[in-house]
Amino acid sequence: MTHLPGEVRIAPDPEGLADAVSGALRDLSAASGSRFAIALAGGRTPRAMYVRLASEPLVSQIDWSRWHVYFSDERAAPPGDEASNYHLAESTMLDTVPIPCGQVYRMHGEAPDLDAAAAEYSSLLATTLGTPPRFDCVLLGLGTNGHTASLFPNTAALGVANAYATRGLADYQPYDRLTLTFPAINAARCVIFTVTGADKGDALRAVVAGTAPAAGVKPSDGRLIWYLDEAAASSMG
Ligand code: 6PG
Repeated sequence: MTHLPGEVRIAPDPEGLADAVSGALRDLSAASGSRFAIALAGGRTPRAMYVRLASEPLVSQIDWSRWHVYFSDERAAPPGDEASNYHLAESTMLDTVPIPCGQVYRMHGEAPDLDAAAAEYSSLLATTLGTPPRFDCVLLGLGTNGHTASLFPNTAALGVANAYATRGLADYQPYDRLTLTFPAINAARCVIFTVTGADKGDALRAVVAGTAPAAGVKPSDGRLIWYLDEAAASSMG
């Protein structure tokens, strides 16, 4: 893991990783000035982080009025669906923390026309965060096939250079997705990957080799930080 690009931080286990990342997000948001623009990741790993952010002591240590919450990707599902990344964030954090109304920007995965929804989100990012959009933090996971957000191997989304959000095509249900593009991710001030489990070794090695989609995450002038648990770090060999 010493060859992963950027900074590498190793936690003993998923709970320790959730402690470390949630604390880092508190600190990043405190240092962000008047607005903290964050894109939340989906999947299983972030759940424990979001629960910690919404619980004491962190929930009282964070100035939630600064937070502007976006999403790294979303499945083609309504916001109340178990498959929805918005549902994950809402049920673990957003429905309890006092983020001002109008500061949570959902990707409309339920839209009948996902291309239009992607274009709408791309415009929202440009309007609210600039061109290119400057997130203070983008949270990302890593799939076992090296995908991140909904940027999957051998898909058109990997090559999108003229938009900040686009349609993604997954190789597992739900197949249809919305995702940030590399131009949006790579303009961020800080990108944080969270990777747990012994099944991510091949994906991590593919990032080092530059063959995984996640290897396309190269912040132009921002920080790149990998949080791994011991199982993921050891699986790299
Ligand atoms: C999604 C995520 C996806 C996820 C990775 C890792 O919508 O599924 O955005 O990119 O981050 O698949 O998922 P785990 O955290 O469950 O390993």
